[in-house]
Amino acid sequence: MLPSSSDVIEVTKLTRSFSSRKGFLFQEKVATDALRGVDLTVHSGELFGLLGPNGAGKTTLTKILSTLLLPTSGTARVLGRDVSREGAAIRPLIGLVLGGERGLYNRVSGRENLRYFADLYGLPSGSVTSRIREVLDLVGLTEAADRRVEEYSRGMKQKLHLARGLLHRPPLLFLDEPTIGLDPRSARELRKLVRTLSSEGVSIFLTTHYMFEAEELCHRIGILAHGQMVACDTPSGLQRLVGGEGTVELESREFDDVELSRLRSLPGVSRVLQEPLGTHLRVTLRVRPGQWDPDALRGALDPHPDLFVRERRTTLEDAYLDLVEQEVAA
Ligand SMILES: Nc1ncnc2c1ncn2[C@@H]1O[C@H](COP(=O)(O)OP(=O)(O)OP(=O)(O)O)[C@@H](O)[C@H]1O
Ligand SMILES: [Mg+2]
Repeated sequence: MLPSSSDVIEVTKLTRSFSSRKGFLFQEKVATDALRGVDLTVHSGELFGLLGPNGAGKTTLTKILSTLLLPTSGTARVLGRDVSREGAAIRPLIGLVLGGERGLYNRVSGRENLRYFADLYGLPSGSVTSRIREVLDLVGLTEAADRRVEEYSRGMKQKLHLARGLLHRPPLLFLDEPTIGLDPRSARELRKLVRTLSSEGVSIFLTTHYMFEAEELCHRIGILAHGQMVACDTPSGLQRLVGGEGTVELESREFDDVELSRLRSLPGVSRVLQEPLGTHLRVTLRVRPGQWDPDALRGALDPHPDLFVRERRTTLEDAYLDLVEQEVAA
């Protein structure tokens, strides 16, 4: 029985530290705070995406929520159950795809791998053969089903991981970088499958480094940096959060501080960032459409014979980089 709560994941003040040894002769104990007080809620039926730089804590959080790791402090409830105390009740209700080479039996076929996991999950024996056929078909592995897994390419192994995660029709699916290592066509097929599962009511928690994937798929996105959630909103909400859905890029050999401060004080302009671009400088402005004035913008600049101006939509990648960089600067 599923809990009546409409939230499938409820995380409060979650922390996780690792202690490991550094050095060879004189070993020193070092502690890593992988999660530093994470709060998060994922609603039933939601497709939630977690973004963040390498080492931010995404896999650690995924492993805690899927009961592979225990938290150091704080609480996490999955489908109404506490991950620290009720792991055994959570496991049959979730699907987990961590990817990579581990967790599969290389000496036997893909189909035999799935048969083994179906037994492990306690699937009713009468329906095992047909369910395996179904998931193989879903992930596009039907033709390769009877080949030994050691002959599979990385992408095929990734598909087998996904098939395994879907076998028992879990209402909540965890996908850690599901399209990593897949060729563009397979990645697109996998995204389509994720969307289909979501439209069928499966709640999905996924991590990714691909911004377009998150933007295309996710209802809401959390950004994790240094073990802390720096923002959590819809893709367009994140764009608003960083100061506007419009972006204007200016490029020239030089902009001086007076020009930059004039740009900063223009109405409708909320952020002014600068970065070197080869021999040139790029100034990026986040602007609120309808509230900024292109003529006023040009008026704020001294004459630049080489000025290049481009207006475009603020992307999720812009928002992500602004938010992660703010965190680093803080
Ligand atoms: N078993 C472990 N022992 C020691 N430190 C660990 C362990 N697992 C993770 N860490 C550390 O915890 C931090 C978070 O790692 P995690 O794998 O969760 O990051 P991530 O966001 O998934 O990164 P990536 O994008 O590279 O997959 C890192 O500093 C990592 O080195
Ligand atoms: Mg990871």
